[in-house]
Amino acid sequence: MDNIALGTNTDLTDEQFYNREEDIKWIKNFLESTSTGSPPSIMITGIRGVGKTVLLKKIKKDLENEYLICYIDLSITSGYQRGKLTEIGIMNDFYDGWMNECEKKGISTIFKKILKISKKNLGLREIVNVAGWPLPIPKTEDNYKNLSQFVFDLPQTIYEEQSGKIKGAILIIDEFQAIKDLGNTLNSFLWFLRGIIQDQKNVAYIFSGSVTSADSIVTELASKDGAFGGRILTFDIPPFDIETVREYLEEKVPSLIFEGKGFERFYKFTNGVPFYVNIFARILLKEVPLDEDKVKEEFKNALIFLAVHFMNQWSRLTFQEQCIITKLIDKPLKRIDIAKSLGIEPGALSVSLRKLQDRGLLKSKNGLYNITENIFKAWLKKEHEEKGVFPFRSI
Ligand SMILES: Nc1ncnc2c1ncn2[C@@H]1O[C@H](COP(=O)(O)OP(=O)(O)OP(=O)(O)O)[C@@H](O)[C@H]1O
Ligand SMILES: [Mg+2]
Repeated sequence: MDNIALGTNTDLTDEQFYNREEDIKWIKNFLESTSTGSPPSIMITGIRGVGKTVLLKKIKKDLENEYLICYIDLSITSGYQRGKLTEIGIMNDFYDGWMNECEKKGISTIFKKILKISKKNLGLREIVNVAGWPLPIPKTEDNYKNLSQFVFDLPQTIYEEQSGKIKGAILIIDEFQAIKDLGNTLNSFLWFLRGIIQDQKNVAYIFSGSVTSADSIVTELASKDGAFGGRILTFDIPPFDIETVREYLEEKVPSLIFEGKGFERFYKFTNGVPFYVNIFARILLKEVPLDEDKVKEEFKNALIFLAVHFMNQWSRLTFQEQCIITKLIDKPLKRIDIAKSLGIEPGALSVSLRKLQDRGLLKSKNGLYNITENIFKAWLKKEHEEKGVFPFRSI
């Protein structure tokens, strides 16, 4: 069983990591140009749980010796966790990330030089301690733009110092959709970032994030009209196809014995999304024949594990947001009909609907709102069936 990763583990061993050879080859090929002075910007997209983070971490591990690589997950940065991502918060995290990577590589002479540059360029007010590293803080608030410039230029500066040792630097920014938190300053930040990226000759950028709805910021950004004007290479990671899942399970969990249409049902429930495949495969009974009915029965039992992310998200929704979701369990509805069923004006739904879409819980198509993920729907349905009410309060 150790050969099949836990659904929440993103640092997979080589034995646990499956498939994706082509994707990895493709991404590595593009990154090669970083060493010749024309680094790519890459956007990795894909639905929740499809394996983006696992893939990015694998690439980092594979290339760590040749490049200076920093991996940042915007959704677990301190600012985002405290409720709001800010530009300063992002800079702190990037700075900390680069410094840690430098330390791992034994590049320490760089710090003195960095401080010297920053003193000259920033007009220092003080030097604060960020996770053990000195971070220069400029004299006035206006100078934060300079500070951003300084932090974003760091990888290029480090490369120029160390070019004999490394082929280039790579910044991986995961859960990029969290950037939406910047609100009013989002646009100027993105244009600023675009400018930085264009000027750097030895730093490659990989962005990644979940695409759960057509209006997702992740696809928006990379589109022709987006902030990066179509200069980003976009790469969508698909779920495993049915044959891949079949071979994967045969190799990693040979004690699973499917019968009749049992396997087809397993695939239908998991949709080939590795997150669901791994969780469900670990839970399913071993060494007993699993036909379609048995898989259906087991699926119900497994729902609280399969839907764990949704349960977390659900518990953080407001009462109104939860009510909207429950109205959409049986069928998609128009905004006006959701409003009617809740006895409120359609206008009063705007903020909630926006937030639910931003969080990837709802999608809208041709004016109809629908719950994005079947597993989320199935879990709520089961709760209602078993308890007679939806779990509106904490769970
Ligand atoms: N290539 C793989 N081989 C085996 N298991 C995988 C693979 N990719 C993903 N998984 C499994 O799926 C789980 C989810 O993967 P991961 O966290 O990378 O998805 P994600 O696309 O980053 O999702 P999210 O959008 O929620 O961040 C992993 O914890 C792991 O159990
Ligand atoms: Mg991820």
